[in-house]
Amino acid sequence: MKPIQVGLLGIGVVGAGTFNVLKRNQEEIQRRAGRGIEITMVADLDVARAQSIVGAGVQVVNDARAIIANPDIDIVIELIGGYGIAKTLVLEAIAAGKHVVTANKALLAVHGTEIFAAASAKGVMVAFEAAVAGGIPIIKALREGLTANRIQWIAGIINGTTNFILSEMRDKGLDFAVVLKEAQRLGYAEADPTFDIEGVDAAHKVTLMSAIAFGIPVQFDKAYVEGITKLGAADIKYAEQLGYRIKLLGITKRREANAAKGYSAGIELRVHPSLIPSKRLIANVEGAMNAVVVNGDAVGNTLYYGKGAGSEPTASAVIADLVDITRLHTADPLNRVPHLAFQPGSMSDLPILPMGDVVTSYYLRLRVADEAGVLAKVTGILASADISIDAVLQREADEVGGEGATQTDVIILTHDCQEARMNHAMALMQALPTVLQPIVRIRKEELA
Ligand code: HSE
Repeated sequence: MKPIQVGLLGIGVVGAGTFNVLKRNQEEIQRRAGRGIEITMVADLDVARAQSIVGAGVQVVNDARAIIANPDIDIVIELIGGYGIAKTLVLEAIAAGKHVVTANKALLAVHGTEIFAAASAKGVMVAFEAAVAGGIPIIKALREGLTANRIQWIAGIINGTTNFILSEMRDKGLDFAVVLKEAQRLGYAEADPTFDIEGVDAAHKVTLMSAIAFGIPVQFDKAYVEGITKLGAADIKYAEQLGYRIKLLGITKRREANAAKGYSAGIELRVHPSLIPSKRLIANVEGAMNAVVVNGDAVGNTLYYGKGAGSEPTASAVIADLVDITRLHTADPLNRVPHLAFQPGSMSDLPILPMGDVVTSYYLRLRVADEAGVLAKVTGILASADISIDAVLQREADEVGGEGATQTDVIILTHDCQEARMNHAMALMQALPTVLQPIVRIRKEELA
């Protein structure tokens, strides 16, 4: 049978990796897919550079629409990124009856509903394994491997840049800004690292995982997003002393209604720095590596670990999608795996809960005047808000501020409570004259 023909839009780091791995492993890939898979056309603005990557045998054009218009092309790989021209081209490729493979998490997290609806109407597949956690086959695991389960929660380190920065901060005791500069110098962080360090990239990815875990529409606009820019070396050190590590987690959880506690049913969808017990495997994921824990009611916890970015790791995911499409493209669209794991007519309307309704536990650090009664006032406010304390750590003033210091740090770990309740208690504590600096609040996840 003649090989399936693929057109590649954008040949940067991942595109080049895809081309090279496909070529290198073509014999084995063909044995798996049942027929050959060939990139026969590439579109890139830098035609000369693209041609030097793919060689003379592949047609390189500077107009992506030449690929979309070519009736011989069965699958279009979109590796342009962003929501601009990438969105237009993906929709045009779908309208032309092409299957689409994309690594574009931003596009799908924001415009996924429109794109998947267009693909379903046209009977084509849009595959996006490479969009979440690079080479880790987490989409496949959620959509197929765990399909028997009622998924309860997912927590993932799904941004390598921030995990690298946090690992360095912990190892070397340095503050965020210093490590970021070093990460940029070494090429671990982009010149404009905003999407990574502000948590936006992780939020795109957890939005996609949430949709396929719970069968809800992609709703990036409802995600709570907080990055790592305000984290200080002191909190990483205190967390360590209490048996925790701080990681930027993408978290999505099913919350059941609980009338006694005033909880309503819905889905939590959030990205923020989190304390996690040092003894958890995921707490020990260091450097630029990614890892995702999924909790299903039948299977319990499962952990997926690997490279979340890079040329060939991401190519591994792109090619897995090419093979899936090659195997399934002649199947009746109704018999394919649904884009969002659940049949389009069986999606849930469970709402994404506002952050005030989220239930979690907390690390609080208060810089206080080192005088009698301060701790009693603080714990009194927590008690009157019905927030239960799990642990308290108070440093000696000398240790915090040097010889003769009159201020110290009080660190409090709480049990679970609703975020709105914690916000109220924090406002009361902050108003105490003996609380001398803005209170540091970091959420805590036991991941048990
Ligand atoms: N910038 C991302 C990261 C990789 O640092 O993990 C692409 O999503």
